[in-house]
Amino acid sequence: ALTPEKEGRPQLGEVEGILLSQSTCNEWQRIQSFQARPDDLLICTYPKAGTTWIQEIVDMIQQDGDLEKCKRAPVHHRHPFIEWARPPQPSGRCCWDCMVSYYHFQRMSKVVPDPGPWHEYFEMFMAGKVGWGPWHDHVKGWWKVKDMHCVLFLFYEDMKKDPKCEIQKVAQFLGKNLDQELLEKIVYHTSFDVMKDNPMANRSGIPVSIMDQSISPFMRKGTVGDWKNHFTVAQNERFEDDYEKKMAGTNLTFCMEL
Ligand code: A3P
Repeated sequence: ALTPEKEGRPQLGEVEGILLSQSTCNEWQRIQSFQARPDDLLICTYPKAGTTWIQEIVDMIQQDGDLEKCKRAPVHHRHPFIEWARPPQPSGRCCWDCMVSYYHFQRMSKVVPDPGPWHEYFEMFMAGKVGWGPWHDHVKGWWKVKDMHCVLFLFYEDMKKDPKCEIQKVAQFLGKNLDQELLEKIVYHTSFDVMKDNPMANRSGIPVSIMDQSISPFMRKGTVGDWKNHFTVAQNERFEDDYEKKMAGTNLTFCMEL
């Protein structure tokens, strides 16, 4: 095995200072030379920002709401991850909640390093020493280029607050017109409770040796504000100071509770 392991978990490799899975690092040249076709759609999310949710929404729109077609394969096969050279596996959500979700994901997913206790993970996340690099760079980078390229920038929190409106935005971006009935069907089938029960969305087909959902389910909570159940007051203050420094100079703002 090329991947060094710690406590049975692969450790991350590094490309240009960004931590990435070892298989991604090994295939980096090939991944970087990927040429998109004009009608390709790329879903570009930071890990745990709601990737699966937007994947399901996009598929439902592209299949004109045909549920049978949307159940043709698990979500990670319908929208494979460009950077996972091996079997496809798991990718704006407020930084606080995203970190909480990422922490629980690293507890249950054996393809990423063990996060250790919360207070240690807190330091690693703040230092940007997590897979796919610092959250701040991801969101700032896409925010900066969104008006120069054909980019639709979505916020998890807006999708929670008004899924109908956000799904309509995605449809328009894809050049599709959804009537009310189809729109409501998509809202229903991409709601958290329905996706949690959908074997083609909830990763239940992945063996326990790769994802142990008894530690933390892949469809965990699906809420805004869970950070309040994890951050201590002192951690929150430090995180906020650090956040303000890293996000200085951008007019990008996130909502932290609904
Ligand atoms: P939590 O861990 O806070 O519950 P990703 O798909 O990028 O890995 O993101 C995972 C996060 O999105 C998880 O957050 C998951 O519960 C949430 N999520 C997945 N499907 C959702 C849906 N239909 N509605 C709301 N949140 C959803």
